[in-house]
Amino acid sequence: MRKSTFAVVIACLLLSACSKDSPEPQTDAYDPAHDYFTFANTDQFVAEHLGIDLDVDFDAKELSGSATLHFKRIDPDAHEIVLDTRDLVIEGASISGAAGDMTETDYRLGETHPVMGTPLIISVPADLMSADNLSVKIDYRTSPVSTALQWLPPELTAGGEHPFLFSQSQAIHARSWIPLQDTPSVRITYDARITTPPELLALMSANNDPSAERDGHYEFEMPQPIPAYLLAIAVGNIYFAPIGEQTGVYSEPETLDASAYEFADTQAMLETAEDMFGPYQWGRYDLLILPPSFPYGGMENPRLSFLTPSLLAGDRSLVEVVAHELAHSWSGNLVTNATWRDGWLNEGMTSYLEGRLIEVIYNKDRADVNSVIDYEELLLDFKDIILERQALAPPFPDGDPDDFQGIIHYHKGNLFLTYLETKFSRETFDEFLGNYFDAFAFETITTEQFLDYLDENLLSRHAGIVSRAQVEQWLYQPGLPDDAIIPHSESLDAASAMARTFAEGDLPLDQVPAASWPPKVMVHFINSLPADLDNEQLAEVDAAFGLSATRNAEIARTWFIQVAERRYEPAYDALESHLNRFGRTRLVEPVYKALAKNGYDRDLAIEMFNRARSNYHPITVAKVENTLNKSN
Ligand code: BES
Ligand code: ZN
Repeated sequence: MRKSTFAVVIACLLLSACSKDSPEPQTDAYDPAHDYFTFANTDQFVAEHLGIDLDVDFDAKELSGSATLHFKRIDPDAHEIVLDTRDLVIEGASISGAAGDMTETDYRLGETHPVMGTPLIISVPADLMSADNLSVKIDYRTSPVSTALQWLPPELTAGGEHPFLFSQSQAIHARSWIPLQDTPSVRITYDARITTPPELLALMSANNDPSAERDGHYEFEMPQPIPAYLLAIAVGNIYFAPIGEQTGVYSEPETLDASAYEFADTQAMLETAEDMFGPYQWGRYDLLILPPSFPYGGMENPRLSFLTPSLLAGDRSLVEVVAHELAHSWSGNLVTNATWRDGWLNEGMTSYLEGRLIEVIYNKDRADVNSVIDYEELLLDFKDIILERQALAPPFPDGDPDDFQGIIHYHKGNLFLTYLETKFSRETFDEFLGNYFDAFAFETITTEQFLDYLDENLLSRHAGIVSRAQVEQWLYQPGLPDDAIIPHSESLDAASAMARTFAEGDLPLDQVPAASWPPKVMVHFINSLPADLDNEQLAEVDAAFGLSATRNAEIARTWFIQVAERRYEPAYDALESHLNRFGRTRLVEPVYKALAKNGYDRDLAIEMFNRARSNYHPITVAKVENTLNKSN
């Protein structure tokens, strides 16, 4: 780290230490290049390739078989290899040099940490101390409570007849289904052999073949090196429909046509992205539509983005998530954050690219609407977050990567890159971005490496426009700099004006052009309704726009947050149906939060959660539990 950067970090910590609820600054020895969420001794051995052999057992809810890791030795004196695991049952370990047979070797499990899991320590025998390359095979099985895997009974799928399994490895859940170096700072290629019940199809974040024979034996290869959090698997009654030459969609047959319709623009998005950001380096790009409990909107598993079915609005109005996951093929999957503290390099950069794609594929108005909604979300977030956690890249020595920075990484990161684009011109910034993806392709980088690269290739080349100190303010200081570019949308201004005029009794709702509004404009209208509306007015809004029965998940989320905050009890039944429809955390957690914090309904929120929780993914359960506990 350069000295000036360090000074800013310290200043930031001192500043935040003055705010009333900040913890003591604890980070004197904080090393921004170190990943604090892995046990792996990556300074001694680095994995380069992984071989996976697993059988999928739906009755036992376990994967069993082996993982074989191929390591390069970095430290000639190192005699142990430490891997990350969580809730794995280790059945044996063997080791060999580059040539020679595998022989059994000693291993032991270390002490379990609540967030990081359990280190697996494998001994390197004396006769392999001089080997530069080592292969280690671990025989193991997963536990039914693996945090990465959700084993769905048939009732929780669209078809209702076959079970379904999917993984979610980001941030540090890969270790709960494969013993490995679970840190984004290490990249591996992989191959896999998966056996499943013969009527089901297995897919991975690898070279899926749309015409693969369905026989319960599946082989995969991922020749591009990826970080562990991008390892993914799904098994179910899954079928394929093509979208374009290089793109297609997988889902259960019940949602296949709807999915192919909804995501028909994917091929165009891919081609536009290549024009703007450089070649797509991964071969095919397919989508997998998961059952409703998938905890995220989307997950950028390489070659095969995983998506929530809540995007199936019927009008292609929520496909920003596809643009986002596709954009990760550059920001995140190609150039990867070195640690979870640098997550803005993945998520902020991807949010920026997503906006650029939406502008080209659809129009500027749609992109502006999204930016304003995101900006407003960011301002609300700042109100809840202590100053030292408002930086893009604050120190991150403990806690849980699943809970780290969220909205700050996405929306503040996006505003930072929009700022650079505006200051340097779109043309100059695009050239910079293309070179950046090229320079760091298939590498992992820290915020500080980005800063140095930016300084050298943009700031200094066009001196006098933005200083390094200004960039450091974005990266290390709370809030937003005074000269941040604040997004603006006339469509949204018109919608909020109408919400106010309606509240004053001066606008009948049949004069609101809601039929022609994209859903995010309706979202903004709902959020702009003044706090003092009475139940009669809320009933009027609900009836006029069919909000309680809407098919659009983003409108439903916004409406039911308002319903809960305002205690509009006539819509509580519909609110509970919403909570049971999809398990995507973003759709349900804020509704529970609003209910629990409205001053009256915390117990009701807990009751509703207890009725719904068995259908949710463990990640969603953990987030909602955390929210409900905090609301006490
Ligand atoms: N990579 C994220 C999902 C994620 C983030 C998983 C952090 C685990 C930890 C994915 O690309 C994402 O950002 N999904 C968003 C999409 C949205 C911003 C368009 C989501 O799920 O809402
Ligand atoms: Zn993302």
